[in-house]
Amino acid sequence: MHSLVPGFYGRTMGKSLSPEKAQILSEKLPAVNLHHHLEEGHDWPFSNPCWMEIGFGFAEHFLAQQKQNPEIPFIGAEVFKNGVAHCLKHLPTQHKCWIFPENVHLLMPVIPAQSIERIFILFPDPWPKKRHHKRRLIQMAFLDQCFRALISQGALYLASDVPDLVGWILEVLQQHSGFVYKAGATSADPTTWPAWPLDWPSTRYGSKAAHKAFMIWEKI
Ligand SMILES: C[S@@+](CC[C@H](N)C(=O)[O-])C[C@H]1O[C@@H](n2cnc3c(N)ncnc32)[C@H](O)[C@@H]1O
Repeated sequence: MHSLVPGFYGRTMGKSLSPEKAQILSEKLPAVNLHHHLEEGHDWPFSNPCWMEIGFGFAEHFLAQQKQNPEIPFIGAEVFKNGVAHCLKHLPTQHKCWIFPENVHLLMPVIPAQSIERIFILFPDPWPKKRHHKRRLIQMAFLDQCFRALISQGALYLASDVPDLVGWILEVLQQHSGFVYKAGATSADPTTWPAWPLDWPSTRYGSKAAHKAFMIWEKI
């Protein structure tokens, strides 16, 4: 797999992985581990466009979407092993999910063109210090990879409660010629953010947020 990828700067483990979680990972992850599947040289495992969530945390949104849309194949990318174990513990027996338990920058270049219908990125790490802005997930090069991976009229579903990051995301999206505004926040000012859609499951970070912005941008 690609080796020259942007780094990952967050945590991959909590203080420690409990014996229960370690067991869940060793028992359940191998069957759905998209990273290993691709590294072993297998084909892309989906014949239909799928959905993908990047940085699902404890997977509240990922699992709720899976439950509401059991027919849609769904990739969950998350490096945080406690979150991956939590997700695997609660995945229903019948599902169409694959987990990418590594830095998503390893996955982006190998996703076949036009194979994803929706990419969800909810409450990405804000990296508030200016010198850390280059660590933010949403960058022009990353949007190029999303554009390539999405089917025509596929969309990016984004959320954040950090005004400065909302402004950053909107600026990069507006500069990219491949996406058009579909719905949600249009400015960094929280007083202008539309209400969270009722049918959009929230997440651990989202439920703690006083104000939260959602943004939907469609591939042209
Ligand atoms: C602020 S948390 C938000 C978690 C969840 N989406 C929520 O709203 O509760 C950001 C998550 O993104 C994950 N993450 C950050 N960069 C990533 C990367 N390059 N590849 C995979 N996961 C990443 C982190 O491990 C973390 O769990």
